[in-house]
Amino acid sequence: VKSLAKKQAGLANKTAHAAVIGAGIMGGGIAYQSASKKVPVVMKDIAPQAIELGLSEASKLLQKQLERGRITADKMAGVLNSITPSLSYEAIRDCDVVVEAVVENPKVKATVLAEVEQHVSDDTIITSNTSTISINQLAKTLRKPERFCGMHFFNPVHRMPLVEVIKSEVTSDETVATVVSYATQMGKTAIVVNDCPGFFVNRVLFPYFAGFCQLVADGADYTMIDKVMEKVFGWPMGPAYLLDVVGIDTAHHAQQVMADGFPERMAVSYEDAIHKLFSTGKFGQKTGSGFYCYSKDKRGKVV
Ligand code: NAI
Repeated sequence: VKSLAKKQAGLANKTAHAAVIGAGIMGGGIAYQSASKKVPVVMKDIAPQAIELGLSEASKLLQKQLERGRITADKMAGVLNSITPSLSYEAIRDCDVVVEAVVENPKVKATVLAEVEQHVSDDTIITSNTSTISINQLAKTLRKPERFCGMHFFNPVHRMPLVEVIKSEVTSDETVATVVSYATQMGKTAIVVNDCPGFFVNRVLFPYFAGFCQLVADGADYTMIDKVMEKVFGWPMGPAYLLDVVGIDTAHHAQQVMADGFPERMAVSYEDAIHKLFSTGKFGQKTGSGFYCYSKDKRGKVV
């Protein structure tokens, strides 16, 4: 997969300027990653406070590296200067690649993609970081859908090496090559996949979560499952902890998408551990409790 992606990237021009629409958890992370790998980036949002947060998160990550002696103060200033915050689309006019990373709502995304298309040249590649919305469906909202594809990063962007590049039925080879190349410039490993519910990663991850939920429903202790997967099997996080980090609300939504896409294999039960936590508002780390309780993001005792 890696060599295929690299071969495709070799055919493409390098991205000189990029833009990210949405400065939230993902947009902020993508902007930081792009800038830190020397691809200047516009970070656009509709909320000034989101932009401030995006910049302050980037600043915190750089500060840590500065304290560890990994970068100089000049490099830190250079990276921060190459993130151009903006509340207007004017700033994205000359960008080669745009990554849409606004809220996971098909209507909002369709509006934003149409707005982006009005403000860039016909050669600009447009991508979406959606985790669950069909790329074919989003492609239909564009005037030139062949220059559009999915570019799915993982959280936290600066640490997760994988990017899924998702082709619609009409995405051009040139578009794929440019996006793979941009992901490579960002220090990521891209895989190219076709559009389907869950793309690649959630197709693998959600059957695993379903198996985990089944074990819990059968009476297994999820802390033991986590211990075995982490300490014996060697994975960095067991399924319960991983679900808390991803967010129970996010996982619940993705689980529904998988169930709709593959009803015979991925049907969800109301007795499901994810469903039960979701219905009580325990969304994991972000709300302070899920499978575990949290204090300052550290995994605490069992709820
Ligand atoms: P978030 O809620 O942290 O950020 C969304 C941002 O979009 C906010 O700053 C909001 O002000 C901005 N926004 C909303 N409408 C806008 C508009 N019309 N124009 C410009 N900005 C607008 O959301 P998050 O978690 O960063 O997710 C963004 C996208 O990334 C979603 O599609 C999500 O599914 C996807 N994703 C999320 C992951 C995660 O772990 N959070 C992982 C991979 C993908």
